[in-house]
Amino acid sequence: SGSVCVLHDITEQQKNENSQKQFVSNVSHELRTPLTSLHAYIETLNEGAWKDPDIAPQFLQVTQEETERMIRMINELLSLSRMDRGVSKIDVEWVNFNDFVAHILDRFDMIVKTDAKEGKKKYTIKRKLGSQALWVEIDTDKFAQVIDNIMNNAIKYSPDGGVITVKLRQEQQKIVLSISDQGLGIPREDLGKIFDRFYRVDKARSREQGGTGLGLAIAKEIVNEHHGKIWANSSEGKGSTFYISLPYEPMSEGDDWDEV
Ligand SMILES: Nc1ncnc2c1ncn2[C@@H]1O[C@H](COP(=O)(O)OP(=O)(O)O)[C@@H](O)[C@H]1O
Ligand SMILES: [Mg+2]
Repeated sequence: SGSVCVLHDITEQQKNENSQKQFVSNVSHELRTPLTSLHAYIETLNEGAWKDPDIAPQFLQVTQEETERMIRMINELLSLSRMDRGVSKIDVEWVNFNDFVAHILDRFDMIVKTDAKEGKKKYTIKRKLGSQALWVEIDTDKFAQVIDNIMNNAIKYSPDGGVITVKLRQEQQKIVLSISDQGLGIPREDLGKIFDRFYRVDKARSREQGGTGLGLAIAKEIVNEHHGKIWANSSEGKGSTFYISLPYEPMSEGDDWDEV
């Protein structure tokens, strides 16, 4: 007679379950904070503050901003969940990455102008794109979302008068886009964590700026879907640089369209 022993390695499964529990706990906390503050504002209004022309508009403004941030958070969570379940397909097309980035920056140039006119934060965007056509296959909507988030972070976490530099370079089998700012920087010990869901170096500051802590987590998922990489370097107090690399096949002569 003998015995049969079956061993399952459950460490991976357990890790997944733990991170899922952690995630549910994070979501609950993230929603409880704004809901609690909304509740307090509404209660005060309800108790008579609605009649006070000095307080009421300000309180309503806060409640509007907080509900907008919560809606944004839920929409971002839904889009992460779609990516987790693999139901969000990427819809790729060939684009010249150089033009693509230039278009996005044109849009930001407009924002710079209106921000300056409205007396908001002043900053400069510098481009170092080059003129070489770099054809890649990407989902343009999703990729625009990645660049938007990193640009918005650079603006959000920079002081007045900062310069944001956007560079694009081609290396052997990849292209690398970098976005550098002269902002407050990210402590070394946080650099690895900023791409985690809800991770923020300074929660209060992020929340004040309307942040959800999900932007970089979404960016990472999208870049992964494109078989690319995303990472950051930073020097505290001096600024940060975010990098995105994408696989790139330089076109060779043989790839030209045959004329018929
Ligand atoms: N350019 C930057 N400079 C300094 N800190 C940054 C920068 N970009 C991101 N961070 C840090 O990474 C965190 C996560 O970023 P993100 O996922 O976009 O969330 P959010 O912007 O909503 O707070 C931010 O809260 C901030 O602490
Ligand atoms: Mg962000």
